[in-house]
Amino acid sequence: MTALKDLLDLRFGDAAFAIPDALADNDALRTIAGRGVVRRFKPEPLAPGVLETLTAVALSSPSKSDLQQRDILIVEDAGIRSRINDLLKDQDWIAGCPHILVFLGNNRRQRQVHHWRGHAFANDHLDAFFNASVDAAIALSAFVVAAEAAGLGCCPISVIRNHAEEVSGLLGLPDHVFPVAGLGVGIPAGAHFVSARLPLGLTVHRDRYTEATEDAVSGYDKRRNTIFPYRAQRNIARFGMAETYGWSEEKARHYAVPERADFGAYVRRRGFNLE
Ligand SMILES: Cc1cc2nc3c(=O)[nH]c(=O)nc-3n(C[C@H](O)[C@H](O)[C@H](O)COP(=O)(O)O)c2cc1C
Repeated sequence: MTALKDLLDLRFGDAAFAIPDALADNDALRTIAGRGVVRRFKPEPLAPGVLETLTAVALSSPSKSDLQQRDILIVEDAGIRSRINDLLKDQDWIAGCPHILVFLGNNRRQRQVHHWRGHAFANDHLDAFFNASVDAAIALSAFVVAAEAAGLGCCPISVIRNHAEEVSGLLGLPDHVFPVAGLGVGIPAGAHFVSARLPLGLTVHRDRYTEATEDAVSGYDKRRNTIFPYRAQRNIARFGMAETYGWSEEKARHYAVPERADFGAYVRRRGFNLE
């Protein structure tokens, strides 16, 4: 197994600190540091009990104030699955994914508890949506870490929210329950790669926030291209062919086009007050 130091050097390029011996040999840390998204899977389903075990482990993750405002929905019904494949057909890997899960924010149970215990819910504002979203994201992350530690591959699916209304109908989601992300899971069909991240000098702050500079981000673009350059440029028809193309150009092009602009309206229709 690659040393933790080598994995972090590859990932960040500026991990210039000494890793204590007690951490350097920790297999769990090496697995997380060397992880990568998987979008190609062997066709066979996971053995019975695997998803259930990983789900239980994922739901052992922290939850804001122990409110437990997140759930996991395992898609098993072939009709529902085929409808989801159809909705998400722009992402060609999804149909070949043996299992799809949906991580849900759930502020409904909290409201039910208020009703059952006879206390008014006095927190009908943005925080109700935010806390449930964060709890669901934490459970998603814990599931990915657990699955990858078990040798499986995963890819989160935010595009499921491009069809939030249809998906909610399909999965029978009531008010105050909403999809945060889907997750494809299975046995990887090949090796993953370690994708370079922004330097720690930009993303770890000490005492006070330090502003990112264009030079530092351009340096990351260059370093990343030496490891795994983009195979194609995004939306050449609109943006043209750039001479140098890196992460920052890719991300700026990505979000120069509106995505899910109707999500706020969907969340309000689910009963949330976002003020
Ligand atoms: C919340 C979330 C949503 C994501 N949604 C999608 C998606 O809809 N489609 C996809 O192909 N990848 C999706 N991804 C995977 C990311 O593109 C991937 O994690 C990122 O490129 C970094 O790669 P790495 O995980 O290998 O480091 C998502 C990841 C996260 C955390």
